[in-house]
Amino acid sequence: MLEFNRNRFAEDPVGKRIQFHEAPIQDLPFEADTFDLVWSSRAVHHLADPLTGVTELARVVAPGGRLAIREGGVAARFMPTTMELTGTGLNERLADAMESWFASHVHFAEDAVPYSYGWTQLLRDSGLPNVSAKTFVHEFVQPFTEEQQTFLLGGLTRWAEDEGREAYLSGADRSALKRLIDPDDNEYVFNRPDLHFIEGITVYVGSSA
Ligand SMILES: C[S@@+](CC[C@H](N)C(=O)[O-])C[C@H]1O[C@@H](n2cnc3c(N)ncnc32)[C@H](O)[C@@H]1O
Repeated sequence: MLEFNRNRFAEDPVGKRIQFHEAPIQDLPFEADTFDLVWSSRAVHHLADPLTGVTELARVVAPGGRLAIREGGVAARFMPTTMELTGTGLNERLADAMESWFASHVHFAEDAVPYSYGWTQLLRDSGLPNVSAKTFVHEFVQPFTEEQQTFLLGGLTRWAEDEGREAYLSGADRSALKRLIDPDDNEYVFNRPDLHFIEGITVYVGSSA
């Protein structure tokens, strides 16, 4: 990510004003009360101790400034709700499998410090009492771009093939997924003209004032 962004802004006049730092969220190399806006995208849910992480992000927000975290949202879905091969509900079963997988690998892992409230309360508990949420819809339809297809195929392939994910999806769903990701199979999902990707992206904002 850092390399990508360094290259992206290398020729941009604004780029000279941007500094890049690498550090764990739990231990930021900045003074307290430094930034008007702190933005964190889809990183906090990876932390074994999310409250400590968000409290550290909040520490570097200037008085009256804002901490925005892109987390939660509405799970992506892109396959029709009913397909002959899978029956109904495959989108929901995949979203549920993802949530269960994350819970056992991160939220209830051995080193986890469980925090059982949602994102709004997490911001309040980090010391930012004024909290709001806004959800943006991200969607696209066939024909998908190659990038969109590669992104979706990556997710489906993990659920079809990774041994560590076997426990979270039924054998029937895993077999169906294997057919859906096989370009030589007549069920190859990306040959369908009716795909519609839709996802809700939520940004939670906390401030002290
Ligand atoms: C799902 S990716 C999100 C990447 C990007 N921010 C985005 O929204 O597309 C999760 C990111 O969190 C970062 N991450 C995970 N744990 C972290 C930690 N303790 N401190 C800092 N970054 C962390 C990972 O390196 C990874 O880049």
